[in-house]
Amino acid sequence: MSVTVLSGMQWGDEGKGKAVDFFAADYDYVARFNGGNNAGHTVINEYGTFKIHLIPSGVFHLHTRCLMGGGMVMDPKVLLEEMQALQEAGIPLEGRLFISPRAHVIFPYHKILDGLYEEAKGAAATGTTRRGIGPAFADKISYNGIRWSDFRHPARLREKLALQLELKNRIIRALGGETLSLEAILDEYMGYYERLRPSITELFPIVQQGLREGKHFLLEQAMGSCLDPDWGTYPFVTGSTTIASAATSGLGIPPRAITQIIGVTKAYTTRVGAGPMPTEIHDDPQALQVLGEIAATTGRRRRAGWFDAEIVRFSVQIAGVDALFLTKLDVLSAFERIKVCVGYRYQGEVVHYADLDSYQLAEVEPIYEELPGWQEEIGHVREYESLPAPARRYVERIEQLIGVPVRWISVGPEREAVIVRPL
Ligand code: GDP
Ligand code: IMO
Ligand code: MG
Repeated sequence: MSVTVLSGMQWGDEGKGKAVDFFAADYDYVARFNGGNNAGHTVINEYGTFKIHLIPSGVFHLHTRCLMGGGMVMDPKVLLEEMQALQEAGIPLEGRLFISPRAHVIFPYHKILDGLYEEAKGAAATGTTRRGIGPAFADKISYNGIRWSDFRHPARLREKLALQLELKNRIIRALGGETLSLEAILDEYMGYYERLRPSITELFPIVQQGLREGKHFLLEQAMGSCLDPDWGTYPFVTGSTTIASAATSGLGIPPRAITQIIGVTKAYTTRVGAGPMPTEIHDDPQALQVLGEIAATTGRRRRAGWFDAEIVRFSVQIAGVDALFLTKLDVLSAFERIKVCVGYRYQGEVVHYADLDSYQLAEVEPIYEELPGWQEEIGHVREYESLPAPARRYVERIEQLIGVPVRWISVGPEREAVIVRPL
């Protein structure tokens, strides 16, 4: 039996989808346990290019069973579209996809409220994906959520939804939004439920039996530690726990069953949405051109900066990471010199991420070290020793700064573009 959690070490988009697709060949179960369709996990393999929002990225290995845990929130329309796209690409889902009845459902009012709150905050907005994530988790925590299990009892669902609409329509009206009708939503959502019903089933016995039978589980976290509502850059965070420990409650895995935690980190830093980002590059259009990316979920441009060892060191510690999966090393081939942030200074003192709130973090001065670049294509390299010496030096410096081994180095977006370092 083995249970591996794959956790993002930055502000999301570290390349978790690619890493899961790479590892999943060796696992029986692949699972998501947190977040919702705010996630966008890119997978590029023999089936094509996919931006997956809800289904575990290990779905392309046809022997795997895919679990969607109760710690998730989901927009059923997005889920059904994703299922259809996968099936059209030749990925069978029948009998392989299991959705927890504990998972909360995102309704149209969650998305409307997400947008209205953002607009009300103006310049202080979080920069959410506007997928209704925060309001859906807020409803869960304030006992106002509606779960898949509620759909089993149409009369109860109607009652719950009617109450929520009464409450939500008042807020929507007050904020100048368009109110919603109960019948239209009930109709639409009962339709979604009917289509998803064959996949909705309690995961507890599946997980317990799998553990007993010594099966292998790969648990795919969405987002990264610095977006965590407790440990991230609050209030510029997301609605669900984004550290590896979320796998326990979000899927129903006993903490002791976890055998390995892999941290996924980019070789530099990106962030989408608002909030502090100490190593962000503002004044180098060429660097921004190379490091900037288009976000998988919203199509927004990602903010970009140098590798920040302070946050990755924090994330490795809070998640209890055993080894790192370092992505996008190939992107750094463009640079003659590469900066690495080794720590922060705040008001003249050396400080640590965990000591600061978001507003202080926005004012820290990164302490940079500069390393020589390699300016050579490395996308084809599969042996560590074949990397140019400065690239190896870069990897080893990261390892030294973070304190755990870099065991996998990703040098391209495709599944096979990975260097596995011998133990
Ligand atoms: P996730 O949310 O953590 O799964 O990451 P995203 O898919 O949102 O963003 C990662 C982006 O980097 C995607 O466009 C991936 O295709 C791409 N990617 C992942 N690993 C590599 C890599 O090693 N090299 C390059 N060039 N691109 C990569
Ligand atoms: P993956 O799983 C990057 C960010 C949003 C915003 C904040 C709150 O692909 O790494 P939300 O819609 O969740 O209320 O937005 O969190 N965010 C992500 N950023 N990758 C993600 O997921 C993200 N999911 C949410 O940009 O700043
Ligand atoms: Mg992403």
